[in-house]
Amino acid sequence: MAGTLLSALLLLQLLGRGEGKNEELRLYHHLLDDYDPGRRPVQKPEDTVTVTLKVTLTNLISLNEKEETLTTSVWIGIDWHDYRLNYSKGDFGGIETLRVPSELVWLPEIVLENNIDGQFGVAYEANVLVSEGGYVSWLPPAIYRSICAVEVTYFPFDWQNCSLVFRSQTYNAEEVELVFAVDDDGDTISNIDIDTEAYTENGEWAIDFCPGVIRRHDGGSNDGPGDTEVIYTLIIRRKPLFYVINIIVPCVLISGLVLLAYFLPAQAGGQKCTVSINVLLAQTVFLFLIAQKIPETSLSVPLLGRYLIFVMVVATLIVMNCVIVLNVSCRTPTTHAMSPRLRHVLLELLPQLLGSGAPSEVSRAASPPRRASSLGLLLRAEELILKKPRSELMFEGQRYRHRTWTAALCQTLGAAAPEIRCCVDAVNFVAESTRDQEATGEEVSDWVRMGKALDNICFWAALVLFLVGSSLIFLGAYFNQVPELPYPPCML
Ligand SMILES: *[C@@H]1O[C@H](CO)[C@@H](O)[C@H](O)[C@H]1NC(C)=O
Ligand SMILES: *[C@@H]1O[C@H](CO)[C@@H](O)[C@H](O)[C@H]1NC(C)=O
Repeated sequence: MAGTLLSALLLLQLLGRGEGKNEELRLYHHLLDDYDPGRRPVQKPEDTVTVTLKVTLTNLISLNEKEETLTTSVWIGIDWHDYRLNYSKGDFGGIETLRVPSELVWLPEIVLENNIDGQFGVAYEANVLVSEGGYVSWLPPAIYRSICAVEVTYFPFDWQNCSLVFRSQTYNAEEVELVFAVDDDGDTISNIDIDTEAYTENGEWAIDFCPGVIRRHDGGSNDGPGDTEVIYTLIIRRKPLFYVINIIVPCVLISGLVLLAYFLPAQAGGQKCTVSINVLLAQTVFLFLIAQKIPETSLSVPLLGRYLIFVMVVATLIVMNCVIVLNVSCRTPTTHAMSPRLRHVLLELLPQLLGSGAPSEVSRAASPPRRASSLGLLLRAEELILKKPRSELMFEGQRYRHRTWTAALCQTLGAAAPEIRCCVDAVNFVAESTRDQEATGEEVSDWVRMGKALDNICFWAALVLFLVGSSLIFLGAYFNQVPELPYPPCML
């Protein structure tokens, strides 16, 4: 009885050794029991650990122009060989890979050197995968905030050159060598890898090129072997539509309004200036918007800033111009004398040049006859009354029929001659002062027309200045394309 019990127990124990014991745990203990994660995985001190690196970009989160920070979300694929983790899967129940916490094995300590927030390492310490033969791979995710000097000269038609610099923090070039990973076809992956399925497109930035280089610093002759850096460059181009819709189009439209000031008549007075000053104020708001967006650098002026300064200068010139034209338009003969030369240039030559002379000539031609005829009538009436007091004047037709009556009337008129003279003098005076008034009015309207002529020529000058300036500034933006670099495009 006791013998059968003993043999059953033995059998159980045997079975337990075969199946019940955790193979993974056994492998774990086999590999890590006398493992020191602080030691480099080399047998001889002069050996180098070769670490392959592959950076996969999953999201270009943002580029903060003001703080000059690029935020990216990446996966860092690091592979190396650790002879201490060599095992054969035949000995451990066919286990292909063992996952171990990253702090239990040696790590090459690759950090992002040009970070800006003290976050050198990865965001999440993922497990390390150990495969048969001692091959180790680690793929931790990371959110990096790296420094990126923003070049604002062509904002918002700019492209930026940002880089991610990786290096091993603790080991020099002789201890750890960094190389690029190799893909299934045997090609070196020196680009930042962008998996189109995992990648989330950024609304503001398009990635044009993303080459990587490995740079070895020799470190001088006496202070050791130096170190290796992997530098990934991201050439990103801004998609300008947002700024075109929200700033450039409104700004051009508002600035174009300033030209309307020239079409306001002189009677509108100060309104001419009000229009341009309002535009000037609106432009200041746009300038403020831009100033909030770009870094506070004095190294260069952004294109949009240059444009705003330009249109503000144009608006200021137009305000000054309006004041001067108003000064001309509102002159009167009592305060200013009009020089004939000025009059000739502004009222005759200029309208001819601009092809707008016709209406003023017509109005000039039309008005004198009316005046001449009324004046002429008066003069003729005066003449008749004075020279023919016994008037055949009004009664010529009736002379024969009412001879006696007419003679009587003539006598009465003759007697009243001094009063009629008085009357005629009064009429003459009225005529005289009307003539004076009309002359004054004509000179006032000449000044107004002179103002209009000035407005006319200044309008064309301002229009040309505005159009040429705007197109020159925006043409500069058009030619600011990313140069053709000797790299394959980043995204296919
Ligand atoms: C792993 O160890 C075995 C024997 O111990 C050896 O033959 C093999 O070459 C090692 N593998 C590697 C990749 O070093
Ligand atoms: C981007 O910057 C790096 C160094 O900061 C430089 O080597 C590279 O030539 C630049 N690329 C372009 C296209 O300017």
